[in-house]
Amino acid sequence: MAVAERNASSSVVIISRNCLFSLFLISTIFFSLSWFYVLRSTGTHHLVEAGSLTNSKPLTVTDNSRNNLQEEKELFRKKYDAKCSKDNELLLKVYMYDLNPEFHFGLLNWKSEGGSVWPDIRVKIPSYPGGLNLQHSIEYWLTLDLLASEVYDKREACSVIRVRNSSEADVIFVPFFSSLSYNRFSKRHPNEKKSQNKVLQEKLVKFLTSQEEWKRSGGKDHIVVAHHPNSLLDARLKLWPAMFILADFGRYPPNIANVEKDVIAPYKHVIKSHVNDASEFDSRPILLYFQGAIYRKDGGFVRQELFYLLKDEKDVHFTFGSVQKNGVTEASRGMHSSKFCLNIAGDTPSSNRLFDAIASHCVPVIISDDIELPYEDILDYSEFCIFVRTSDAVKEKFLINLIRSIKKEEWMRMRDRLKEIEQFFEFQYPSKKGDAVQMIWQAVARKIPSIRRNIHKSRRFSQTVTDKEKGLRSISLPRNFW
Ligand SMILES: *[C@@H]1O[C@H](CO)[C@@H](O)[C@H](O)[C@H]1NC(C)=O
Repeated sequence: MAVAERNASSSVVIISRNCLFSLFLISTIFFSLSWFYVLRSTGTHHLVEAGSLTNSKPLTVTDNSRNNLQEEKELFRKKYDAKCSKDNELLLKVYMYDLNPEFHFGLLNWKSEGGSVWPDIRVKIPSYPGGLNLQHSIEYWLTLDLLASEVYDKREACSVIRVRNSSEADVIFVPFFSSLSYNRFSKRHPNEKKSQNKVLQEKLVKFLTSQEEWKRSGGKDHIVVAHHPNSLLDARLKLWPAMFILADFGRYPPNIANVEKDVIAPYKHVIKSHVNDASEFDSRPILLYFQGAIYRKDGGFVRQELFYLLKDEKDVHFTFGSVQKNGVTEASRGMHSSKFCLNIAGDTPSSNRLFDAIASHCVPVIISDDIELPYEDILDYSEFCIFVRTSDAVKEKFLINLIRSIKKEEWMRMRDRLKEIEQFFEFQYPSKKGDAVQMIWQAVARKIPSIRRNIHKSRRFSQTVTDKEKGLRSISLPRNFW
């Protein structure tokens, strides 16, 4: 009996322990759920994407907090409408992979805190290295603009919005800072088998090709930035179905990159913008300005030819040497004091010199037969540039006679146009209406119909068919049909 009693009382203890434990467990669950919810709803102050909130509704929502969420969303919409929707500016919904920081801001020595993939841009923007690295910093500005699309106060332009559900996106953005990776990490250290730049490209290909998003479209709706001509050298051969954002097609075979599929983005100019430019035709003493490297491989021979043709013209400035850090001020002064600025093909058809000239209001003279120009589908460069075929430019006196024949009025017309369009080539954060970042997104948006057409076309014969149907088809269709 005593034994039974003891057993009974100990089982009571066990039962009540179980009860307490369950109670504890349940209350813990409720507590964490409510915290989860509170955190989420405070997070909406900076999380713009209304869709992302509805997609991941927590399990327990009290009426009260549901109202708060509703209010948040309405507030968001109002602000969004006030800023963006008025003139139908929003063009693109973009899904961005949460790539490991080693592919993007990690390359800028940014250290993730609390496992976050992205820096909190409300606090601080990791800076991009200066000097000539900046020419190809397009990857950085586009990524920042996507992050900023979720932060109201940082929003001044609205071509693009980041969405968290890839099925709702028009395009999928791959945030790999490929130019920085090339510029900074393509040297192989003695103890490494491969450079970090190569390793990252391999990892990227492996990651992308295994993603649902990639498989869905075969990569056709993906955007990969590779602005430096040597960036993504290995991965481009695998990622070519994607839309590339490039400086030119000089180092790409036409099946890998072409003007139908890809977007040409400007370089970020290294010369200082000519703000408060009060100069006139007569107050710019130099007729024609060129500064650049001389002995270039490939198409660059023309630089040397032109040097010999122009070196004795008194109002022509023609010097060799790349614009290094301390040379920027001098080059700025030179271009700001010139009427025309030469842009001659180097080892690639494009160079930042064209964009330096635009920022200087110095009418560009382009001698580069294969150059591709940013946004040329909506921008007529002949309104503010002089184009000269290489075969003509190397004829005795041809170029200098042509330049001297351009009258003051014509130059002023082109200069005025330069002042109107220079904003299209400005990269900045926060991005502003009509600047380079917005213009690039708009160029991407203009490609959407053709991307969709290509994706749909590629699906014609890839519907899921049962084996039986497949069998029937292969019988009823001519052999070479497939
Ligand atoms: C993402 O969007 C698609 C299409 O609108 C929808 O069917 C799907 O449920 C969404 N996914 C999530 C996780 O909400």
